[in-house]
Amino acid sequence: MEFRIGVVQNSPKFLKAGPNIQACFNLMDEFDADLWVLPEFFASGYNFKTRKEAAKCAEKADGPLSKVLQAYAAKHDCAVVAGFPEKAGAKLFNSALFATASKTRVYRKTHVFGGEKRFFSPGDTGFWTEKVKGVSVGVMICFDWFFPESARTLALKGAEVIAHPANLVLPWCPEGMKIRSLENRVFSATADRVGSERGLGFIGQSQIVTPNGSLAVRLGENEVRAAVVAVDAWTAKDKKVHPACDLFEDRRPKYYAR
Ligand code: ACM
Repeated sequence: MEFRIGVVQNSPKFLKAGPNIQACFNLMDEFDADLWVLPEFFASGYNFKTRKEAAKCAEKADGPLSKVLQAYAAKHDCAVVAGFPEKAGAKLFNSALFATASKTRVYRKTHVFGGEKRFFSPGDTGFWTEKVKGVSVGVMICFDWFFPESARTLALKGAEVIAHPANLVLPWCPEGMKIRSLENRVFSATADRVGSERGLGFIGQSQIVTPNGSLAVRLGENEVRAAVVAVDAWTAKDKKVHPACDLFEDRRPKYYAR
């Protein structure tokens, strides 16, 4: 079953949400995709110095951004996954919206990173999957990748594609996600940003990885562009790495407890 996965690698201007959103849409408009993945905090920028600053950019999960993404999804018959600072009551979360024409859903980053901990609460949604044109899509955000449990939980819940909005500052994720894809036999789509913000540099290298752990596409460290790859989503259902070895059936959870 052909499924077109797109990643957007942007270079947002800090706190300029409107132009940043439009710049991403302009890149996306050049392609057709069934699923688009945009970076973490793709519209606001990342490097907040105060809670007040983060709170000013934050919005509710059903706020204006959800309407904008839903309208894009409806117009282009696709799903869009994109990171944003979320306001929920008194708390802020580092979240991603999943938007289609008919629904939106929010994922809240489970493993918040570094300075994010000053302003953003650890996510409380857990990991979930949604169907996009028959393909099961799960979401995790940036540093979640460092915890193998994130991708494994999504894969055990049936995810065939992991949508992974990111703002990567450490060097290991692009190579590490090959292993996450391989050990779970899933596609992964990591959408990162480029440039630097208030002295913090981002590494680009957005990519789409196959269940064999091979790169379908990887963008450059400084490129601003979108890329789309048509994959056969069914291959993510096959968890066998040898005729006698199924990675999920052969698990031994009773030996995994601490
Ligand atoms: C990160 O989680 N943005 C490094």
